[in-house]
Amino acid sequence: MAEFELSPYLSKHYSQVEEIFWLTSARTPALEERVEFRKKYLDDYLGHLCFVALDGERVLGYILCQPDPSTFPWPLDIFKDFFADYPAHLHINTHPSAQGKGVGAALLHKLEEELILRGVRGVHLVTHAEARNRFFYEKNDYIPVHETAQKLLLLGKKLRVKNL
Ligand SMILES: CC(C)(COP(=O)(O)OP(=O)(O)OC[C@H]1O[C@@H](n2cnc3c(N)ncnc32)[C@H](O)[C@@H]1OP(=O)(O)O)[C@@H](O)C(=O)NCCC(=O)NCCS
Repeated sequence: MAEFELSPYLSKHYSQVEEIFWLTSARTPALEERVEFRKKYLDDYLGHLCFVALDGERVLGYILCQPDPSTFPWPLDIFKDFFADYPAHLHINTHPSAQGKGVGAALLHKLEEELILRGVRGVHLVTHAEARNRFFYEKNDYIPVHETAQKLLLLGKKLRVKNL
C-alpha cells in the first residue's frame, strides 16, 4: 500500500467516513433506525477527538474518541465501574480494501499519543467477545477488562501519562 498519513478529522472527510462506517457496520439497521444509529456511533463523536488515515484525498480509515466518560451514551452505563481506569471511549474502522495493512494500528497509536498529551490515563472500547477484531486490539496491548452475560466485551489499555 502507498504511504498514508494521519490527520485530524475535518468535515470534508464526512462522506468517506460515513461510507466506511456503513461498509464495516456489524449490522445494518432498518431504514427508519439508520439516522439514530449513525448519530449514536458516528455523528455524536465528530466534535470530540477524531483522526483519519489518508492516502492523498482518500480516507482509508478513522478513529473516533470521547475522552470524557460523562458524555457517554446510555448503554455504556453497564461498564461505568471501569471508567476510572479506562476513561476514554473509542471506535475505529478501516475501509475493507485497506484492512490488514497497518492503518488501524497507526490510528490507535495516534489516538493514544494524543490522549497521553491530554493527561488521560486509559482508553477502552466495547466489542463482542467472539468478534475477530478482538485480536487486533489484543495485539495492540488492549486487555479484556470485563465481559457481560451477553458477551459484550470491554477491552482497555492504561496509558503512561508523563509527569510534566
Ligand atoms: C479491526 C480494524 C479496525 C483493524 O484495522 P486494520 O487496519 O485492519 O488493522 P492492522 O492492519 O493495523 O492490523 C491487522 C490485524 O487486525 C486484524 N484484522 C485484519 N483485518 C480484520 C478484519 N477485517 N476484521 C477484524 N480484524 C481484522 C487481524 O488480527 C490483523 O492481524 P494479522 O495481521 O496478524 O492477521 C479493521 O480491520 C476493521 O475496520 N475491521 C472491520 C470492522 C471492525 O471490526 N471494527 C472494529 C469494531 S470494534
